[in-house]
Amino acid sequence: MNLAGNTILITGGASGIGFALAERFIQAGSNVIICGRREDKLQEAKKQYPGLHTKVCDVANPSERVALAKWVKQEFPKLNVLLNNAGIQRRVPIAEIGEEWQEHQQEVAINLEAPIHLSALLLPLLQQQQEAYIMNVTSGLAFVPGSFAAIYSATKAAMHSFTMSLRHQLSKTSIKVIEIVPPAVNTDLGGAGLHTFGAPLHDFADAIVQGISYGEQEIGYGTSNRNRKASREEIDQLFQEMNSRF
Ligand SMILES: NC(=O)c1ccc[n+]([C@@H]2O[C@H](COP(=O)([O-])OP(=O)(O)OC[C@H]3O[C@@H](n4cnc5c(N)ncnc54)[C@H](OP(=O)(O)O)[C@@H]3O)[C@@H](O)[C@H]2O)c1
Repeated sequence: MNLAGNTILITGGASGIGFALAERFIQAGSNVIICGRREDKLQEAKKQYPGLHTKVCDVANPSERVALAKWVKQEFPKLNVLLNNAGIQRRVPIAEIGEEWQEHQQEVAINLEAPIHLSALLLPLLQQQQEAYIMNVTSGLAFVPGSFAAIYSATKAAMHSFTMSLRHQLSKTSIKVIEIVPPAVNTDLGGAGLHTFGAPLHDFADAIVQGISYGEQEIGYGTSNRNRKASREEIDQLFQEMNSRF
């Protein structure tokens, strides 16, 4: 893929991995649209890159997804890349959820429902372009679950599955489907300070855009490459090693 000349929508693009990828697409010469819930974060990003287009949108809400897609179709008819990046991570023992479902339903809605729904909503527009891409951000935890984040891991495993099926469904179209598989990366995911042990954000983002430009369809980094290539026996072993620490 040529990183220049695209029109790309990045959900959750005002911070963390989304913003790091937005910066690289802007620097390469693409037109970038970012969305998120926090207007101040979107404005901060726009201050750094005045050419950025921003939209406040909560992708957990189906009607806001529909409105976002409608706005994009009207304002950016050349959209050729959808990057489903927005995500949250909650760490809670399932036994403690009880009747407090709403927060956890949000995790499923943001991480799983939103990328599926936005893909469906924007497919007709993407299909009109000569070359188009849907990029889904999953996780190394899609392949080796973290029991400390059981719902999160399940949503990411489901997104890995969905990404494979979507790629196959679209294999005879001009739309390529790419999966970005981060390991732990130093962002604010789950709350400030929870991922400081992770890979440096900019090293990770540089490697991901290199993979994208080389035409890779499933792009990992560091330990997530190990996870996504592991055999069933290795998955069991990695699962034990990782989860015995929590
Ligand atoms: N960092 C890691 O270790 C790691 C590892 C594996 C996978 N990932 C994945 O990478 C992606 C990006 O995460 P990150 O690490 O960059 O975390 P982050 O810094 O917390 O960024 C997440 C972004 O998503 C946006 N977002 C969250 N909920 C949203 C909603 N309902 N509607 C619209 N935007 C929403 C947030 O903006 P607002 O809060 O303003 O809405 C924020 O900009 C996620 O899918 C995450 O699961 C991260």
